[in-house]
Amino acid sequence: MMSHPELRHSRIAGTGSALPARRVTNADLAAEMASRGIETSDDWIVDRTGIRARHFAPKEQASSDLAVQASQQALESAGLSGAQIDLIIVATSTPDMIFPSTATIVQRKLGIVHGCAAMDVQAVCSGFIYALSIADAMIRVGTARNALVIGSEVFSRILNFDDRTTCVLFGDGAGAVVLSASDSPGILATDLHADGRHLDILCTPGTVAGGTVLGDPFLKMDGQAVFKLAVGVLESTARTVLEKAGRSEADIDWLIPHQANIRIMQGTARKLKLPMDKVIVTVDQHGNTSAASIPLALDVAVRSGRIRRGDTLLLEGVGGGFTWGSVLVDY
Ligand code: ACO
Repeated sequence: MMSHPELRHSRIAGTGSALPARRVTNADLAAEMASRGIETSDDWIVDRTGIRARHFAPKEQASSDLAVQASQQALESAGLSGAQIDLIIVATSTPDMIFPSTATIVQRKLGIVHGCAAMDVQAVCSGFIYALSIADAMIRVGTARNALVIGSEVFSRILNFDDRTTCVLFGDGAGAVVLSASDSPGILATDLHADGRHLDILCTPGTVAGGTVLGDPFLKMDGQAVFKLAVGVLESTARTVLEKAGRSEADIDWLIPHQANIRIMQGTARKLKLPMDKVIVTVDQHGNTSAASIPLALDVAVRSGRIRRGDTLLLEGVGGGFTWGSVLVDY
């Protein structure tokens, strides 16, 4: 592949998103759970999480399908065709298959046939931040010029709907950006971390062997341990990425954190001394869509006109692994 040394930066050229058609409110979920003798309520869920509704995909709609819809929108808003894409990265923990990667399935469904690189990234709820950082690095060294970077999940497939402590928190969806080479930033700095010592507090420990599931195929979480770790690492990675870029909290126009829980977002905003009206919040309508949550929130805010060209965005993710990181962008 040709290198382009004159183009040393990457910038977000377009965004897109997709949600399954079925919207499930807290009241819908509570009624369904009550029919199986499990108690929850709209009040409890809103009070503890800020979530009011989420979307669930039907069996036949896979992560790749949502990713394709989001990608088509992102390509359209960037004014590019699939033929101009030379890198596809899908961040997902709910891939269509064990292999091949969801990225190659997306490539096929989009009809991109010129053989560009395609891969999945697995960093759970930080997956999009990891994927965007990798795409930025590949563009900056000249191995890619236009990348499709996607977060797509069908977390409903790994939820135990008999476990009220987890099943009320998550939803399905996808978000995508086209990241393109540019002679000015764009992405100002990135910061990635992981600490595998905390894998037990948030995991889906099952696997497949001999044609059967070994272990547990459902998501497990120690909510309070996740909460404490999340607020701390989101503050530290925000400070690090700002320092790397030579910027300060005062330069942030919009904070787009991983949409897990409104209380985690409020805690992070408080630590960064940002008013909540500078925080993009979609968790109320989408629940936690894991790797999809940040690009989904970004696209919603771009399309509603809140985020404008020239705004400085701080994107932050945290999730299973434990993994966390951030990307600072001049949009
Ligand atoms: N409905 C009603 N009651 C519930 C429900 C529910 N859905 N879930 C739990 N409860 C009950 C518990 O059984 C408990 O009852 P008890 O006091 O009789 O034992 C009570 O509510 C309090 O439970 P806690 O777990 O202490 O509730 P907490 O205030 O910690 O809230 C929550 C739980 C929302 C999960 C919180 O810990 C949290 O936000 N954690 C962050 C985790 C998170 O957001 N994870 C998302 C994935 S991770 C990520 O994306 C980074």
